[in-house]
Formats: sequence, C-alpha cells, structure tokens
Amino acid sequence: MSSPPWPVWDRPVRFMHWYFPVALGFMWWSGEQGYTLWHSWCGYSLIVTAATRLLWGFIGSYHTRFSTFLKGPKVVVDYLRGRWEVKSGHNPLGGWASLLLVCLVLNQGATGLFTSDDISFEGPLAYWGGQWSSTLSELHHLNWVALQGMVVLHLLAVAFHQWVRKEPMIQGMWRGQSSNYQGEVAPAPVWKALAVLVAMSTLLSGVIALAPQAPAYY
Ligand code: HEM
Ligand code: HEM
Repeated sequence: MSSPPWPVWDRPVRFMHWYFPVALGFMWWSGEQGYTLWHSWCGYSLIVTAATRLLWGFIGSYHTRFSTFLKGPKVVVDYLRGRWEVKSGHNPLGGWASLLLVCLVLNQGATGLFTSDDISFEGPLAYWGGQWSSTLSELHHLNWVALQGMVVLHLLAVAFHQWVRKEPMIQGMWRGQSSNYQGEVAPAPVWKALAVLVAMSTLLSGVIALAPQAPAYY
C-alpha cells in the first residue's frame, strides 16, 4: 500500500486514460488499413477498458467517482460564468465531458461488434444484429466522427487549462500530482480495478462465444 500524499488520479484511471490515445490511434490505423484481426482484438480491449472505467465511477477512488464530479446544470452554468473556486479533480464541465468521452469509446466498440464491411470483415455479433447490422455499421462510422470531434475539444480544453490557466493538469493525469490537492485521501486498491477488468473481459468473451454464427454455405 502506498503512503500519503496520495495521487489525485489513482493508478487504474491513469493507466486507462493513457491507454485510450494509444489504442484509439491504433484503431484508426487498423480500421483504415483493414488489419481486421488487430482491429477486433484492440477493439475488445477498448470495450473492456471503457466499461471498467464506467464501473470504477461507482466503486473507485474518491476523485474518480461520478458522485464526486458530475454536477447539476446550475453548477455547470455557474462554472461557465466564472463562479467556481478551482478544486482538485474534474471541473463541472470537464466531468460531463469525461463521461461523454468514455461513453463514445464504449459505443464505438459496441457498434463495431455488429459492423460489417459487406466484403470480408465483420464483427462477431453482425449476424445477430440481423437487419440492424447495416444501421449499426453506419453508427460505427458516425460515432467515430463524434469521438474524433470530442477528442479535439478535449485536447483544446486540456491545453487551455495547462498553458493559459497554468493548472498542471497533464502532470495530474501522468503522475497524479495536483497543485490544489494535498493527497489526503487513500486510493481504492488496484486489485479491485483488476477484478472489474477480468469480470468485464469474461462478460464480453461470453457474449461473443454465445452469439449465433452465420450458417456456412459451400
Ligand atoms: C485521444 C484520446 C483521449 C481520450 C479518449 C481521453 C479521454 C479522457 C477521459 C475520459 C478523461 C477523464 C479521466 C477519468 O475521469 O477517467 C480525460 C482526462 C484528461 N485527459 Fe484525456 N483523453 C485522450 C487524450 C489525451 C491526451 C493526448 C492528453 C494530453 C495531452 C490528455 C490529457 C488529459 C488530462 C490532463 C486529463 C485530466 C483532466 C482533469 O484533470 O480534469 N488526454 N481524458
Ligand atoms: C473503440 C473501438 C473501435 C474504434 C475506435 C474503431 C474505429 C474504426 C475506424 C476508424 C474504422 C474505419 C472506417 C471509418 O472511418 O469509419 C473502423 C472500421 C471497422 N471496424 Fe472498427 N473500431 C472499433 C471497434 C471495432 C470492433 C470491436 C469491431 C469488431 C470486432 C470493429 C469492426 C469494424 C469493421 C467491420 C470495420 C469496417 C467497416 C467498413 O469498412 O464499412 N470495430 N473502425
């Protein structure tokens, strides 16, 4: 067990966070180039990571919990009007943006499971999707555009806080240090996040294994 001062973002969240840009970059490349097997496996890992982050929002460390950082519309409007005292963790707008980013990643992966390129590459649930498969394939493309847009906004927001407002956000997400947090709250144990990760992987493997396959034609 580590000792105080504890990080503002616990290890599981930092790991999951930095996995997103690396894996999404790989997904872009493999999706465009048609490296189907790599695309599928990396896609599964992103589904599991995003689902784990969502569950971690209920059972994770103090700053990673949705109850800590998801605020009502009045607080968000007050924040936008400058009526907000800078605190550790996500600000009221950043909190919602974070949730949206994770949901977009999850939706990208989930729609991928049903996607087919109508030639040689299809997700393991494409046959299950039946007539919905083409709609979900379309969504896989549309969601990708939305996800790219949100990532651009995210990077602009981080750059603004980091370099204009001089808040060391990147250091916070990288090493857990935050100038406005003294590190007095102990993080949730890492094994708990690993247990969620294993449970999510098992669930996804089960769904894929149970999905009906298209009949083979000879
Ligand atoms: C490209 C894909 C990316 C995605 C999908 C993504 C997603 C996210 C998410 C979901 C969070 C919230 C963390 C949580 O509560 O779990 C977050 C926070 C953060 N991200 Fe990213 N991120 C990406 C790239 C980056 C990059 C390249 C940087 C650095 C330049 C970065 C810097 C940060 C920082 C500093 C925070 C903390 C913000 C705060 O303190 O409120 N992100 N990101
Ligand atoms: C978060 C995870 C994922 C990301 C970021 C992602 C991203 C992409 C991208 C960028 C493309 C290229 C086409 C385009 O520009 O829209 C693509 C195509 C495709 N993806 Fe994914 N994908 C993900 C998960 C998956 C999964 C899990 C599967 C299935 C196992 C899958 C199956 C496909 C298929 C079949 C295509 C080809 C569609 C076509 O050419 O019409 N994807 N994906």
